[in-house]
Order: sequence, then structure tokens, then C-alpha cells
Amino acid sequence: CWIELKRISTLFYQTKKISIMIIEPRTRGFICLTSHPTGCEQNVINQIAHITSKGKIDGAKKVLVLGASTGFGLASRITSAFGSEAATIGVFFDKQPTVGRPGSPGYYNTAAFEKHAHAAGLYAKSVNGDAFSNEIKDQVVQLIKEDLGQIDLVIYSLASPVRTHPNTGKRFKSVLKPIGEVFTNKTVDFHTGAVSEISINPAEGDDIENTVTVMGGEDWKMWMDALQAENLLSEGAITVAYSYIGPDVTRPVYRNGTIGAAKDHLEATAFAITDDLKSIGGKAYVSVNKALVTQASSAIPVIPLYISLLYKIMKAKGIHEGCIEQMQRLFSQRLFGGDLALDEKGRIRVDDWEMRADVQAEIAELWKKATSENLPEIGDLQGYSDEFFSLFGFKVLGVDYDADVNEVVVIPSEQ
Ligand code: NAD
Ligand code: NA
Repeated sequence: CWIELKRISTLFYQTKKISIMIIEPRTRGFICLTSHPTGCEQNVINQIAHITSKGKIDGAKKVLVLGASTGFGLASRITSAFGSEAATIGVFFDKQPTVGRPGSPGYYNTAAFEKHAHAAGLYAKSVNGDAFSNEIKDQVVQLIKEDLGQIDLVIYSLASPVRTHPNTGKRFKSVLKPIGEVFTNKTVDFHTGAVSEISINPAEGDDIENTVTVMGGEDWKMWMDALQAENLLSEGAITVAYSYIGPDVTRPVYRNGTIGAAKDHLEATAFAITDDLKSIGGKAYVSVNKALVTQASSAIPVIPLYISLLYKIMKAKGIHEGCIEQMQRLFSQRLFGGDLALDEKGRIRVDDWEMRADVQAEIAELWKKATSENLPEIGDLQGYSDEFFSLFGFKVLGVDYDADVNEVVVIPSEQ
């Protein structure tokens, strides 16, 4: 009967070209098929509030963020806009909502971000499309020429399982596999809490090359080349891409696996780009960030169990951070704080608290003990699950999920 009522009301509103519905989470494996516009907006509001509470950052004024709609990219955009009053252009690949079909969270996040940025008098425009393509690069080049002239900071925060190569049209798929031998370890299904052993077969055929093609540095360099060729980078411009290292327990499948090979390539590309930027005194950096619940990391076996233990320990020690806290610290203390504190490989490290010896020693201890029975206690399984749903705008504090919402939100600059 409730369903019937809902259908009638949806039909009624459809005739008026607006739709009102109640949106609930629908999950399949490690993805959620629906997302909630009000919850996504509340997440953005909370991130803006965090940045505002931390005070001004003397940072870049014209910022291009590639991968700007979720995770570290969205947090970088919010930090730039609300910490340094920067004009921002955001590029991402997200599903626009239609009547009865919610959009992807990045779409709602960006609609909310632009709304609040514009209300604060800030320039913010967005480009929704495949950042790996020549068309989207051309579109962004055109937009910078028309609106901003030059860019001071380029954030590269794309995370994608596939890439169509712009020169050949060939489609590459990345894989998450160990290299050389089978990797067996514990993992958790964070929906059910079941801890089990998982074995992952090693990379074969073109797995390594394909993963490097998708998640390595080639596209980052293509972006920087395209911008430099049109003189769209200001004197001393910088660019930053994000990487991950992580603990011993995930090393075979992450850093020493196919994705790690891509991260090695990304990190090496920073030096190549810095070389290219010599004439304008520009620099390219990689920042190694902390493990966080994002759509990308939930898909990697073993990582969810590690993160649930990590969160418990870091929260207990008062050093837990989410994407926005990480980016606030990266921008205020490292990028624009006068001390990059580079490691021996020239990388910025905001995974420093995650990698602290005391934190890692406790994880190694708990890792051995973790079972389905004790994980809710020794790990932050609830925190993991809540944060996963919050990526899609669900289980966000202060949001009334029984209220009808209009799912057909439009990003202001795309109107
Ligand atoms: P995410 O999935 O939250 O964000 C990915 C972004 O890329 C989204 O805005 C998405 O729309 C965009 N995108 C994907 N494919 C695209 C395409 N073809 N064209 C345009 N936009 C596209 O990911 P995240 O976790 O924030 O990861 C960002 C970076 O940070 C990655 O390099 C990742 O490896 C790194 N990192 C992640 C973690 C972690 O624990 N999540 C830790 C350290 C570093
Ligand atoms: Na991102």
C-alpha cells in the first residue's frame, strides 16, 4: 500500500517534470547502487565546516582538480575553495540523476559543493566526462582560457578500474593481484562481519602493464603537457598526485602487487613532470595518503579488515583522520606550510600517523587474533560500515531519511 502510494505520487510529480521519492540504500557486493542527495550535501557541508574551523590557508588561488567529486579529490577541492578562497574547476565521471534513478554520489557532492561555493562568492565550474579522453582535456583547456587564464595547482586524484587510451582507442582494465605468487590472507565482508581466508592468484599475461596504463602516471603527464602547451600554468605552479604504501599485511596485494607497480610509475612520473616544468619553476609531487574507506579502497581484498583495525586503534589514540582532515593537514602544513617533509624518495607523507610504529605494532598483534566473533570488538567494523554508507549519503547524522527528496538535482554550472 505504501509502495502504491509512492508510485502514484511519483507519477503525479513526473507529469510536472519533478520527482519526489524516498531513497534507500541498495547494495550489491562492495558497491551501493543508490545514493541520497540530502546526505551527500550534508557530507559536503560537514567538510566545509571542518575547513572553515581550521582557519585560512595561504594556498593556490586557481585550482584544477581531476577526480574532484569524491574521496581525496573532493576534499582537496573543498580545502582549496574554503581554505584559500580558490577558484576551482573540477573534473569527474559521474552519473547524472534522472526521474526515479538517483545519480552517483559524486554528482550530488558536486552539486552541493558548487551551491555552497557560489553562495560564498567563489568561482566553481565542473566538467563531467572521461578525463582520460582528448575531448575532455580540450574542453578543460578551453574553459581555463575563457575563465581563469592560468592555473596555480593541479590535483590529480583519479581512481578508475578502466581507461580508454586516447591515442589508440584501446580499453585497458586494471587488476588487483599479487605479482609472482598466490597471496593468501584474511579479509572481512564488512556487510556481514564474516572474517575469512582469501587466496588471490598472481598477475598473468598483460595484467601488470594494463594496471600501470590505467593507474600509473601517463595520463597525469598528458594533462600537464596539455596545460603547458597552451601556457595555462602560472609561474611556480605545482601539481600533486596521490599514492598509498600501507602495512606489511597488505604489501603482497597492494604495494608489491599490480596496483603498486602503477603507483611506482605514478611516483616516477612526478620527477618527469618536474623536469618538464623547469622553465616555469613548477614542481610535481606525490603525496602518500592514509588508508580510508572510499569506493576505490572497499574493492581491494584484505584492505577492509586492515582499515577496520586501523580505525579502532587510531580513534583510540585520538589520531584518526578522514579525507578532509588529511587534505587540511596536507595543504596547511605541507604544501603551503613551508615544510614538505619529503621522504627519502621525494614523497610527501600524510600517512605518517598510520605508519607510526606503535600503531602498526598493535595492528600486527590484532591481525593474528581477528575472527568473525571478535572483530566487532577489536576492530571498528561499525565505523567501516557507517563510513561506507556515508559515501553514498546514507547514515549521515542529522539527515531525515523518511522525508521525500527530489532526486533530480542538477549541478549549477551544468545547467
Ligand atoms: P574515489 O573513488 O573516491 O575518487 C575517484 C575520482 O575519480 C571520482 O571523482 C571519480 O568521478 C573520478 N574518476 C574516475 N574515473 C574517471 C574518469 N575516467 N574521468 C574522470 N573522472 C574519473 O577515489 P579516492 O580513494 O579518493 O582515490 C583518489 C586517489 O587517492 C587514488 O590515486 C588513490 O589510489 C589514492 N589513495 C587512496 C587511498 C584510500 O585509502 N582510499 C589512500 C591513499 C591514496
Ligand atoms: Na578523489
